[in-house]
Amino acid sequence: MPRIHPLPDLLISQIAAGEVVERPASVLKELIENSLDAGATKIDIQLEEGGVRLIRITDDGIGIEAADLPLALARHATSKIGSLDDLERVASYGFRGEALASIASVSRMSVTSRPQGAAHAMRLRNDAANAEPAALSGGTVIEVADLYFNTPARRKFLKTEATEYAHCSDVLQRMALANPGVAFTLSHNGAVRHRHTGCNEEARARLLLGEEFFSHARRVDVAAGPLRLSGYAALPAYSRSGRDEQFFYVNGRFVRDKLLTHAAREAYADILHGARHPAYVLFLELDPAEVDVNVHPAKIEVRFRNARGIHQFIFHAMQKALAAPIGSTPFATEPPSTSSYAGAPAANGYFAGYQQGSLAVAEQSAKPYLEFARSAFADQGAALNTAAATLPADADAPLGYAIAQLQGVYVLAQNNAGLVLVDMHAAHERILYERIKRQLDAGPPPTQPLLVPLLLAASAGEIATVEEHAHTLPLLGFEIGSAGPQQLAVRTVPALLAAGDLPALIRALLADLKEFPASRVIEAQRNELLSTMACHGAVRANRLLTLPEMNALLRDMEATERADQCNHGRPTWIQMSMQDLDKLFMRGK
Ligand SMILES: Nc1ncnc2c1ncn2[C@@H]1O[C@H](COP(=O)(O)OP(=O)(O)O)[C@@H](O)[C@H]1O
Ligand SMILES: [Mg+2]
Repeated sequence: MPRIHPLPDLLISQIAAGEVVERPASVLKELIENSLDAGATKIDIQLEEGGVRLIRITDDGIGIEAADLPLALARHATSKIGSLDDLERVASYGFRGEALASIASVSRMSVTSRPQGAAHAMRLRNDAANAEPAALSGGTVIEVADLYFNTPARRKFLKTEATEYAHCSDVLQRMALANPGVAFTLSHNGAVRHRHTGCNEEARARLLLGEEFFSHARRVDVAAGPLRLSGYAALPAYSRSGRDEQFFYVNGRFVRDKLLTHAAREAYADILHGARHPAYVLFLELDPAEVDVNVHPAKIEVRFRNARGIHQFIFHAMQKALAAPIGSTPFATEPPSTSSYAGAPAANGYFAGYQQGSLAVAEQSAKPYLEFARSAFADQGAALNTAAATLPADADAPLGYAIAQLQGVYVLAQNNAGLVLVDMHAAHERILYERIKRQLDAGPPPTQPLLVPLLLAASAGEIATVEEHAHTLPLLGFEIGSAGPQQLAVRTVPALLAAGDLPALIRALLADLKEFPASRVIEAQRNELLSTMACHGAVRANRLLTLPEMNALLRDMEATERADQCNHGRPTWIQMSMQDLDKLFMRGK
């Protein structure tokens, strides 16, 4: 029988470290939280090799008394709570007293601090018995070097330097959003990557989320008694393919909470396509006694006393903000611009002529379309006659010949049986899907270099994905590289997709790729990627087509396998026979 024995202290901390400090970014989060709890107004961070080699954080907070330094590194020692009562209404980020001990157990660490009134600073290393005098003008410096050097199993789970850095950058963004008054700088391998001076909430959010978000954002600010929800929520035109721009804070703490995200999502239910994700930054404030933050070691989840009430409050507050009439927001300065890129040459096929302008309709102006629509629909009988007159003599194509485009969404065609209605985006998506699939079966698809590289503002996470998938992207027909710390340059795209919404396509593709290990993308996730590529490569609703373009689309549908349904299983077209139409009008009754 094995005997029961207590674990050594170091091992206990290393086990705890598994929960609290999963990767460099979680160390960084704990350290920034400590600085904020210490009342810092200025926090400087230096990272090396994605934070694995070094994380150094310098703050101007209240510091640690020399006599307390050993306690700061000890498990279950904290200055933040002293009783259960304190725990139940805790307002600081920390209270468990285990972060520094956990970090110290898996790294080479030192804490240097000089509280006000101290003659000089003191430094304590985790491998030394006693603190020693050090030079520092005030505040605290914590250095964490060689993370997981003594726990190689954990070290193996770390990703590339770029990915670990991206997680650190995400942490900084989250903390900076909730603490606009605090100045932050962050450097990586000696180069400054973020520099945020102290400012107000709106300026900080604008800086971190960008003008594009803000031009689509509504201000949220609703209070009910001790509850308050404030922040910014983007209208559906700025929806995302991932959840990467959802920032939810409870009393200043970034959380990922199902109840909260569900409530927010519900407010978008009628206005956002199911596969898209809303973007927002929201701050929920409530009495700390109403929320339990002690349910998760990293405190990323919380529990509410009155979960139902909170859900309803958020849902209604968001719905109200999103429904506010346009113009009521100070941020919607311009109409949403969907095609902000320039220089993408046209693809082959029916949209080529369209873009080159040889086929009549101008994209920017709705005027020709309006004139066309007016003449086509002012007198329906006459319009249909006109179109009928242009019908080829051998009019036996199954999907018939285009008559008009309705509201930029449907193509109307007539065939021998009667009226054909086509959902043009869904149909084109289906065609592209089958074509790219065929091309990929034969190797990398034919590509189209962009005359002017498409420059995209990108998050560190997106840049890391591009680096991790450097070998996958060319196989899919893309050539993408980083063009600076916050920008990607797209040089080549699959020819079939070149006329699509490229920025949306690239972002969606990267969001997909982020989820997959680079080696298995092509085999295991191919269909998912194909859907994403087809969806964003396809002609969007509200794009005006000429009759020849519409006819080309109908012919392609006829030539495509399973063209009756889009990739999401919805029909791409329906037939309304003359009898159906007669019935509608009760003719012959
Ligand atoms: N940057 C800092 N400035 C001042 N005190 C700090 C700082 N970092 C840590 N401390 C002190 O060390 C203690 C232990 O920190 P930590 O292990 O993170 O536990 P917790 O934050 O839960 O109290 C804190 O309670 C605090 O008193
Ligand atoms: Mg802490």
